[in-house]
Amino acid sequence: MKPDSIRSVSDVIHERSDYKNWMPKGMICTALAITALFLILFIVFGLTGIVSGALKTVLFVVFLAVTVIGAAVTLWMFLLYRAFDYNGKRQMSRQIIEGVAEYVKLPDGGKCLDVGCGSGALTIAVAKRNPKARVIGIDRWGKEYASYNKPLCERNARAEGVTNTSFQKGDATKLDFADETFDAVTSNYVYHNIPGDRQSYLLETLRTLKKGGTFALHDIFSRSRYGDMQAFVGKLLDMGYEKVELIETTDKYMKKHEAVWMELSGSALLVGKK
Ligand SMILES: C[S@@+](CC[C@H](N)C(=O)[O-])C[C@H]1O[C@@H](n2cnc3c(N)ncnc32)[C@H](O)[C@@H]1O
Repeated sequence: MKPDSIRSVSDVIHERSDYKNWMPKGMICTALAITALFLILFIVFGLTGIVSGALKTVLFVVFLAVTVIGAAVTLWMFLLYRAFDYNGKRQMSRQIIEGVAEYVKLPDGGKCLDVGCGSGALTIAVAKRNPKARVIGIDRWGKEYASYNKPLCERNARAEGVTNTSFQKGDATKLDFADETFDAVTSNYVYHNIPGDRQSYLLETLRTLKKGGTFALHDIFSRSRYGDMQAFVGKLLDMGYEKVELIETTDKYMKKHEAVWMELSGSALLVGKK
């Protein structure tokens, strides 16, 4: 048995961070499996002589249509996976995370909350930039993002040599923190995943921010998901918040045409001071 000090150094050397992918591999595999199933059904019922007449025509059209749509969706998911890949050529996720983290400035000894931390990427990026502060990542984990979990976040923090983070399970719609706990709050691409009144989720996050604290919340703030965000900015200003701004990021971290095909149109950073 190696002494602890030696074990932790060798662990850091051998561990590599793995932030996974915003497009879960499991979803691509499921789409691929469904497409393959319908391709088989198309071949069996649409091309061979097992059925005949009108029924054969109907099955031919239906199974072919589902196969083509399934193949297109699978290809789209695969292209997203490739663009988001942390180690790929485009590295879009890394650019967004680093871009959002740039907006989070913490005082020495300060505390930051990252809502919906996933695999810990933003929590760790903020912690690296603010080594004298603490950053807490919360996430509900599981569900569609099955590969994200707390041990993964902790492994990633260790692999990056970061010691000022902690991670815990939590719900963005009802945070387990008292009012005015944090010096900064941040989040990336989380609230749009949650059905319901998304402006109220923003207010729930801001509830935990201290007076004078800052926020940098990145999401797809489209009208269909959030309603009128300019009115929300006005509401925050009326509540006494300062320097509240919605900064479009579809020409900052991505190209406009990428935002369109990736369904990220409306991406923006909501920043300001309480
Ligand atoms: C697209 S991922 C983004 C993860 C991370 N913020 C990042 O930028 O890598 C969305 C995350 O939101 C989390 N999430 C969704 N609904 C949530 C909720 N109600 N409370 C907490 N986390 C939630 C998911 O578990 C997932 O980790």
